[in-house]
Amino acid sequence: MIPYLCTMKKHPQQVDGFSKWSKEEKIDWLAHQCFSSPTEAKALLTSYWHSDAKLQQLHDEFIENAVTNFYLPLGLAPNFVINGKNYVLPMVTEESSVVAAASHAAKFWAQRGGFHAEVIGTQKVGQVHFMYKGSAKKLEHFFNKIHPLLLADTDRITEKMKKRGGGITDISLVDKTADLPNYHQLHVCFETADAMGANFINSCLEQMAETFKREAQTFEAFDKSEKKIDVVMSILSNHVPNCRVRASVSCAIESLGSAGDALARRFVDAVRIAQVAPHRAVTHNKGIMNGIDAVAIATGNDFRAIEAGAHAYAAKSGAYSSLSEAWIKDDCFGFALELPLAVGTVGGLTQLHPLVRWSHELLGNPDVRTLMQIMAVAGLAQNFAAVRSLVTTGIQQGHMKMHLQNILNQLGANMEEKIALTEQFKTQTVSYAAVEQALQSWRKA
Ligand code: MEV
Repeated sequence: MIPYLCTMKKHPQQVDGFSKWSKEEKIDWLAHQCFSSPTEAKALLTSYWHSDAKLQQLHDEFIENAVTNFYLPLGLAPNFVINGKNYVLPMVTEESSVVAAASHAAKFWAQRGGFHAEVIGTQKVGQVHFMYKGSAKKLEHFFNKIHPLLLADTDRITEKMKKRGGGITDISLVDKTADLPNYHQLHVCFETADAMGANFINSCLEQMAETFKREAQTFEAFDKSEKKIDVVMSILSNHVPNCRVRASVSCAIESLGSAGDALARRFVDAVRIAQVAPHRAVTHNKGIMNGIDAVAIATGNDFRAIEAGAHAYAAKSGAYSSLSEAWIKDDCFGFALELPLAVGTVGGLTQLHPLVRWSHELLGNPDVRTLMQIMAVAGLAQNFAAVRSLVTTGIQQGHMKMHLQNILNQLGANMEEKIALTEQFKTQTVSYAAVEQALQSWRKA
């Protein structure tokens, strides 16, 4: 059994200037503050340091107060055919069945024409939220007058982006006073080329807020109180319904196998249930995100932003619903997923993290539109695998099979025992209790 090295001894003291301490000082302090065996606690952290000091420093500098690396496996899902091209997807996840499920679905659909994917839009959004007590008409005049200046003042920020085909595509003034007294927005649309663009968008918005406040001071039609525009915040929105991608598959029902008819009908029913039942929809969409997040992490993308945007989109009708749809038409089975994906293939971690760079190369250094398609397909494949299991064998059979190695590790099985029990459980249902008992019997024998 893996020894549980570090049991909590007591709560740590409050500390000042922690971020200024050296990594060694932080680890030493922490080990003595929180762990019953400081030596073992320190040894565990340092054992995860990279032997290449430069590479370790690179990782340390990603975040504040880094003390070690936290490993997650990077797995490969081969045999994806997307718009006629072959891909091996890099997937970072801790969930044992995710990569296997993606691989199975990829192979299944490769034999049926592969996945199709198309980008519907790439528009990003940001807002300057401000309070203004005064005439809405005057505010509109003011906005129309300074509109060109709002753009001109961001020129130094947008110059490079414009060369790459991006920039600010629209600014509008939105009156939100019906929702909150005095509340208005500058709603700004962006194209960010191959970048996710968060820093670019936020810099543009902050500059616009400055221009807006500054110009209000000298706008003649405003009275004294109207000149005091109070900018509350300027920030991009992760709700990006117009930065959207669609992935789909379809095949003749007879090519689904001997029970193809029943499978297709149950599958469509399962997706319809997720469309109308929010409790089911959340889990259904979680299955989709199993695939998307895994590729997002491998490619250095912000999976929290992706998750937030996806779930907001899933609730666009006012009720939380499935992101995917399935249908039967003219003896064909069809299955599709549509969701917003604001991702990047340049900037952020993409050039910095060696494994992220590696993952991009594995995918053929895709541009942002291609990466959106790949990620949507990863989500659709994962959803297909989960729903197919749910409506046929049930999810646990596959899940527990993939979880077997984790159970064996938890029980401290050695290599010989692992080989024997893996063989035995090829034909037996996996559960923690069953594996524990089988291991005991094996050891006795
Ligand atoms: C588990 O991580 C994901 C599933 O629950 C998804 C689903 O129920 O569709 C299997």
